[in-house]
Amino acid sequence: MTINYDETFKRSITNPDDFWGEAAENCHWYKRWDKVLDDSNKPLYRWFTGGETNTCYNALDFHIDNGRGEQNALIYDSPVTGVVETYTYSQLRDSVAKFAGLLASVGVSKGDRILIYMPMIAEAAIAMLACARIGAIHSVVFGGFAANELAVRIDDAKPKVVVSASCGIEITRVIPYKPLLDEAINISTHKPGNCIIFQRSQEKAGLVPERDIDWAEAMVTANPHECVPMLATDPAYILYTSGTTGAPKGVVRDIGGHIVALKWSMKGVYDINPGDVYWAASDIGWVVGHSYIVYAPLFQGCTTILYEGKPVGTPDAGAFWRVISDHKVNALFTAPTAFRAIKRDDPQGELLKTYDLSSLKTLFLAGERTDPDTLKWAENKLGIPVIDHWWQTETGWAIAANCMGVEKLKVKDGSPTKPAPGWDLQVVDANTQPVKTGEIGALVIKLPLPPGSLPTLWHNDEGYVKTYLDEFPGYYKTADAGFIDEEGYVFVMSRTDDIINVAGHRLSTGAMEEILTDHPDVAEAAVLGVDDKLKGEIPVGFLILNSGVDRDHGVIVNEVIQMVRDRIGPVASFKVATIVDRLPKTRSGKILRGTIRKIANNQEYKTPATIDDPTILSEMETALAKIGYASGKPN
Ligand code: COA
Ligand code: AMP
Repeated sequence: MTINYDETFKRSITNPDDFWGEAAENCHWYKRWDKVLDDSNKPLYRWFTGGETNTCYNALDFHIDNGRGEQNALIYDSPVTGVVETYTYSQLRDSVAKFAGLLASVGVSKGDRILIYMPMIAEAAIAMLACARIGAIHSVVFGGFAANELAVRIDDAKPKVVVSASCGIEITRVIPYKPLLDEAINISTHKPGNCIIFQRSQEKAGLVPERDIDWAEAMVTANPHECVPMLATDPAYILYTSGTTGAPKGVVRDIGGHIVALKWSMKGVYDINPGDVYWAASDIGWVVGHSYIVYAPLFQGCTTILYEGKPVGTPDAGAFWRVISDHKVNALFTAPTAFRAIKRDDPQGELLKTYDLSSLKTLFLAGERTDPDTLKWAENKLGIPVIDHWWQTETGWAIAANCMGVEKLKVKDGSPTKPAPGWDLQVVDANTQPVKTGEIGALVIKLPLPPGSLPTLWHNDEGYVKTYLDEFPGYYKTADAGFIDEEGYVFVMSRTDDIINVAGHRLSTGAMEEILTDHPDVAEAAVLGVDDKLKGEIPVGFLILNSGVDRDHGVIVNEVIQMVRDRIGPVASFKVATIVDRLPKTRSGKILRGTIRKIANNQEYKTPATIDDPTILSEMETALAKIGYASGKPN
């Protein structure tokens, strides 16, 4: 690998065939590709067309064939159950092969969809890898989503089988998963043929005769299944993510590009070698979990940690340090919110001192912008490079990063450094014209996107083009706004749509508004993300009631909070709402969200020239003060 950022980046953009072709040589192929970059159907680009490979083979069998069978592949560390379990590459491959055989025995084959709704247990990774082994397309749904969100995904992906567990554990609370799954199947139109349920000792789920299969019982007689060669352009998985409405978008990842890009990123972005221990403290329900708990570390022949716990409370703010020292972790990847939680509970970092963290080389943060306070705290306490990197569910890996395996660049507070190789990032105005250096504009990526990013949305090429490619012809719209400074450093400032980022979780305020206006007493609603010390942002709801409603306001607020919890799930963290007589709007009727947000965040704001009635701003200040938000001062 060239050890110079500028040269490496330039080569990736000017000669992608050469760059990614070389990276692909490090992966296993049953049949070599005909073309590295296939641009025959622009704007839909494909990578490694004609090539045949298998994700699971690259993650497991490849390493066993190359002498790593006895190395640890996965360590399941669960402070919530007190269990630590280690799987060598051979042991993990054997479990995965058997589960793949079990899936095949119930009729699952290439191209079938499997929905996985699991807590952070090793069986979740086993199920994902087993799908990959037989070419089934998994769609993992995060455990914190409610039955309704699960049903929406079941109806879109139409899974033949659902794989789930009897429960999740949130610190000390046992959360039964099976009733949520049963409810989801009850309300969905599509009905999966079977559900395979992993029974945990903390909760035994009732099984539906004929449909439900007990994981452990069925594994006793399951026959191992070999890897099935797949086209590089076949889908590996679907991962649903929030869009601007209640309907989530099914982000597709293809097989070949995914293997090549993620394997490259392990060395290029993270400077991690085969045999190293890599820990992404996230959840398999999110893209970070897909890419960096399960796939990339295994493609690279590392030991990956699957952690069922929190940064604090399991049992304390030393939880991460304990895992790092117990398993000799070399790189940790998590969200800034996790570090804010640790810093809140142990500001002096006293607990750090009781552990040996000498194995840890680098801390990587993503999911939201790393605020300078958190960056500095982590740097001071750990004494290692702290690297903010920017990416999205859609992109599958980092768009911008300080690529530690290419060239270690200086860190600038608030910046995820420079575009990673493959990402031709530009800043443009509404007419797709480049803005001046340092000026804020839309962050867009010149097509083609590199391997590993989404080729399309599930069964929806048209939606893909409309959502991401239409607004800036020739470019992918990230829906983030920001700027690039004179040294080429990227600064990601805000979303340009109604997505908010709550504890590193991506949520649509539009989806929440749809739920609020379903309440019979609510005429109109707005949901905004306001600053939160721990979670970065939290949603706050504003409700305008139908005329004549004289029910208790507190009761109505509690009802809408419960509705969001029931329909989206606890992950939404929707806990604050208030009733107002009216909302500040422009003369054309658009809610002035930016102004309300500034008032709530106690920032200075200008009365917008387009406002319909300026007197309403003082009403907003009073309304926000009532729910604990200091009012910003007009200037
Ligand atoms: N299954 C069921 N419920 C879940 C869940 C899961 N897998 N994950 C979260 N929840 C629930 C929580 O119990 C909580 O419920 P509550 O409202 O009843 O208390 C709610 O969803 C919100 O959870 P969370 O956002 O995790 O907030 P928290 O207050 O419990 O914890 C942090 C705050 C900062 C400790 C936590 O958000 C965290 O560890 N974040 C790390 C960030 C991360 O992993 N980001 C992923 C992208 S890299
Ligand atoms: P998700 O698809 O859940 O990964 O969320 C992606 C969004 O999170 C991005 O579009 C950004 O808005 C935000 N995001 C993720 N990482 C960063 C980062 N390092 N800096 C700023 N914003 C980020």
